[in-house]
Amino acid sequence: MTLQEAQAERIEKEIRELSRFSAEGPGVTRLTYTPEHAAARETLIAAMKAAALSVREDALGNIIGRREGTDPELPAIAVGSHFDSVRNGGMFDGTAGVVCALEAARVLQENGYVNRHPLEFIAIVEEEGARFSSGMLGGRAIAGLVADRELDSLVDEDGVSVRQAATAFGLKPGELQAAARSAADMRAFIELHIEQGPLLEQEQIEIGVVTSIVGVRALRVMVKGRSDHAGTTPMHLRQDALVPAALMVREVNRFVNEIADGTVATVGHLTVAPGGGNQVPGEVDFTLDLRSPHEESLRVLIDRISVMVGEVASQAGVAADVDEFFNLSPVQLAPTLVDAVREAASALEYTHRDISSGAGHDSMFIAQVTEVGMVFVPSRAGRSHVPEEWTDFDDLRKGTEVVLRVMKALDR
Ligand code: HGY
Ligand code: MN
Ligand code: MN
Repeated sequence: MTLQEAQAERIEKEIRELSRFSAEGPGVTRLTYTPEHAAARETLIAAMKAAALSVREDALGNIIGRREGTDPELPAIAVGSHFDSVRNGGMFDGTAGVVCALEAARVLQENGYVNRHPLEFIAIVEEEGARFSSGMLGGRAIAGLVADRELDSLVDEDGVSVRQAATAFGLKPGELQAAARSAADMRAFIELHIEQGPLLEQEQIEIGVVTSIVGVRALRVMVKGRSDHAGTTPMHLRQDALVPAALMVREVNRFVNEIADGTVATVGHLTVAPGGGNQVPGEVDFTLDLRSPHEESLRVLIDRISVMVGEVASQAGVAADVDEFFNLSPVQLAPTLVDAVREAASALEYTHRDISSGAGHDSMFIAQVTEVGMVFVPSRAGRSHVPEEWTDFDDLRKGTEVVLRVMKALDR
């Protein structure tokens, strides 16, 4: 019997179908617990059932399709990724990994594969933090690292909490602890993801063997001055919050360019209040997203930023606060899984290279409870988190074949 192989056409069809579940506007905008999320959820559950998986959802709505094994006592071998998106993002980030996991489930089913370990195919929620501003919430819940109080403290821009939104969505967020997995019930987690960077395409390489994931720090800087009339207030009497804030943003950029070791910094969101064109800015809030493969660089950078913010604020006669709300050290993926991915790519005669991830992933948290491996496929021009995000479907087929081979190797 010729073995069924992963099919690029099926992968393409499912990714395109899911990309339609988006809010208005360019690219894909699928925020958690929204109607778009609900539509994607329906499609994913139907696809899991069509692949003969039993389906359950955990407290926050992570969808877990399961194929029982001949030995039910064994911990599950899991594959998956997230199915939420950033605002106006692409149709591959996260979703491609979920679809390739489902394609793997279909291929195993079509080939009548007899698995010893239970196999799980997981669609994870709220990885981007685009609605509740906390990255990798779904992955953190799987790792048992979400505190119950966060379900109330994490709110969206309308003040709706995770608990309220998840409950309205029909979930039982109170059962958060039951969502936590461990090595006792999860043997490994493999995540296929688009590279979101330029290396694989530049080097014409088909598979990225992910060895590590950068450390991430997320901070909020609040600058408080005094709003005034834009016309009648002389310059020397102002406590304009935006001018010092703009200097802080430029200084952070200068610091990171001086470090020049792969560390990056981004101010992605900045608000000005009260926001009228004829009003002197009284308050400015902005986010700082810092990433580095080197823990020490992040520590030094944050210390330097904190001192600089204080100095710039006092010189400008305004107040300023720095609040770190996300802190994750660089993660080294499990050597056994890294080897398994590399061996699978070799056996399949796909060109491959070791690569470090500049993007954060749910795998960073899941790696705290079980062995984790990641498979990268090329991103066109390295673009991601934009509507132009693109990965060839045949590359996703190859990635799926690697995932299948790793699952079988672990299942032996
Ligand atoms: O921000 C990240 O790196 C990921 O895409 N959430
Ligand atoms: Mn992303
Ligand atoms: Mn992602």
